[in-house]
Amino acid sequence: MAKVSVIVPAAGSGVRFGAKENKIFQRIKGQPVFIRTLELFTNRDDVVQVQLVVSPADLADMKERFGGNLGFMGVSIVAGGAQRTDSVRNALANVRDDADLVCVHDAVRPCVSSLWVDAVFAQAEKTQAAILAYPIHGTLKKVADKVITETVPRVDLWEAQTPQVFGRDLLRLAYQTATGATDDAALVEAMGHPVSVVMGDPRNIKITTPGDLALAEAVIDSLPKPKPKGGDHPFDEARW
Ligand code: CTP
Ligand code: MG
Repeated sequence: MAKVSVIVPAAGSGVRFGAKENKIFQRIKGQPVFIRTLELFTNRDDVVQVQLVVSPADLADMKERFGGNLGFMGVSIVAGGAQRTDSVRNALANVRDDADLVCVHDAVRPCVSSLWVDAVFAQAEKTQAAILAYPIHGTLKKVADKVITETVPRVDLWEAQTPQVFGRDLLRLAYQTATGATDDAALVEAMGHPVSVVMGDPRNIKITTPGDLALAEAVIDSLPKPKPKGGDHPFDEARW
């Protein structure tokens, strides 16, 4: 089993969400979004390290309100930077040497099944680079001044999601010269290294605007769950 170091970037400012505080603190069924996201990883046997990247503007607040919980969960806090790439790079510097893979997963994607994490981790172990993504089903239009200028063929188009998982040294190398990319795969692609795509799910939404919170609440209980272990228990229903 590959050992995985997880980086959870949470250091944006949530401009499109438009709330007073960073959208990562918004609650889904009473639980802050970023805590729900961290819990996808903190209970896994293959995860050896979890880092939460927090913007300098949120750092004091985060430590005061959640420092205790995060410590208990084994999550360390790292200061982020101006761009997402700066935030991830800061955490990459602390990745443990015994980690085989590095998983980057946005704090604002709390609706992920552990089965999907299993799948992308397994593929990354095989190919050193794998992300969750989902094929585009709608019809895509290019628009200028609220008028369509072009219909973009959707054939072969997929939307990238996270988790995105890479060999530790490969991702470090990709980040040496990186700027401005909105995901990690783009940097690895730019190196010419093939990045595998693992079938994601439309329920793996990114909380961007307030309406996405309602969507997340609606889908979270519908996520597929792993089969319970020990199904051959003598009182297993199927035997009666
Ligand atoms: N992020 C980060 N550091 C940055 C910018 C973004 O760690 N300098 C994180 C965000 O906190 C988020 C993820 O990257 O978890 C995806 O970014 P996005 O959804 O764009 O979040 P924000 O940048 O916060 O939102 P907006 O673009 O609307 O300001
Ligand atoms: Mg952003």
